[in-house]
Amino acid sequence: MNAPVFVDLAPATASFEAEVLAGLTARPRALSPKWFYDALGSKLFEAITLLPEYYPTRTELALFDAHADAIGAAAGRGRVLLELGSGAGEKVRRLLPALAPSAYIAVDVSRDALQAATAGLSAERPDLPVYALCQDFAAGLSLPPQMPTGARLVFYPGSSIGNFAPDDAVRLLAPLARSGDALLIGVDLVKAPATLVAAYDDPTGVTAAFDLNLLARINRELHADFDLRRWRHVAVWNDAARRIEMHLEAQATQTVTVAGHVFAFEAGERIHTESSYKYDPAGFVALAARAGWRHRGTWTDVDSAFAELLFVA
Ligand code: TRP
Repeated sequence: MNAPVFVDLAPATASFEAEVLAGLTARPRALSPKWFYDALGSKLFEAITLLPEYYPTRTELALFDAHADAIGAAAGRGRVLLELGSGAGEKVRRLLPALAPSAYIAVDVSRDALQAATAGLSAERPDLPVYALCQDFAAGLSLPPQMPTGARLVFYPGSSIGNFAPDDAVRLLAPLARSGDALLIGVDLVKAPATLVAAYDDPTGVTAAFDLNLLARINRELHADFDLRRWRHVAVWNDAARRIEMHLEAQATQTVTVAGHVFAFEAGERIHTESSYKYDPAGFVALAARAGWRHRGTWTDVDSAFAELLFVA
């Protein structure tokens, strides 16, 4: 039986509490999006990916279905496939036959999603060595010695790279550029602001629930008393910075206690929960070049909504 090798380097509850307290104290107030993905948050994100307004997941999956063989041929088969933010593991399934990796390493900050996804994949692919690494790689990936070595294909789908400011994206990608390695990365493209805003603020309210669940998680895990009915989800397009911004906005003046600390909010005050930078392909190629990655290929849909880019170090 081929069970995944599980290595847990996840941040402890202590760091969740410290980061939340620091984020609520800072001006502007901000909470890191990596905390969205508890068990409920991961399910809500999966629901987002099914929304008609949220085109990125659907578009990227269609790109994999249409171009897997070309991607595999360009990336090179038999590499160690290292996926950042592997989530439910749906994307990698589409690429495994074409990439034929020697091993698969899934990295995700969400322990629940990581365990479920890698156990499922191991059961389906008994011949594939599967490694699960529970880690917050936002400040840099560290691979423990149990992980397989060899030429890697770093796989970073979903345009999660857009959740980093450009300079931070360079800082994340640069140390991954070992000579001989390759990078396959999904990048969401600049488009009409109305399309972008709808993708991050859908009329059914699933995205709002996903954002608000961050406050609910703080209530559950940090002895806090956010009244979710007095907060609303806001998504705005920041044209100067070329990013969608997600905020939670207080609907009334209120005080909230988190782990014994009291925070006062004015009506209309916002907590910044995530930014999602959008690129054009040439702009992203230039960013990757700053991190030591040379462009090898681009696959995009007919509407140029989303691009999959391949690089070598
Ligand atoms: N990384 C995803 C993205 O930028 C996460 C996401 C989707 C998200 N919808 C959201 C984050 C709404 C906050 C609010 O597309």
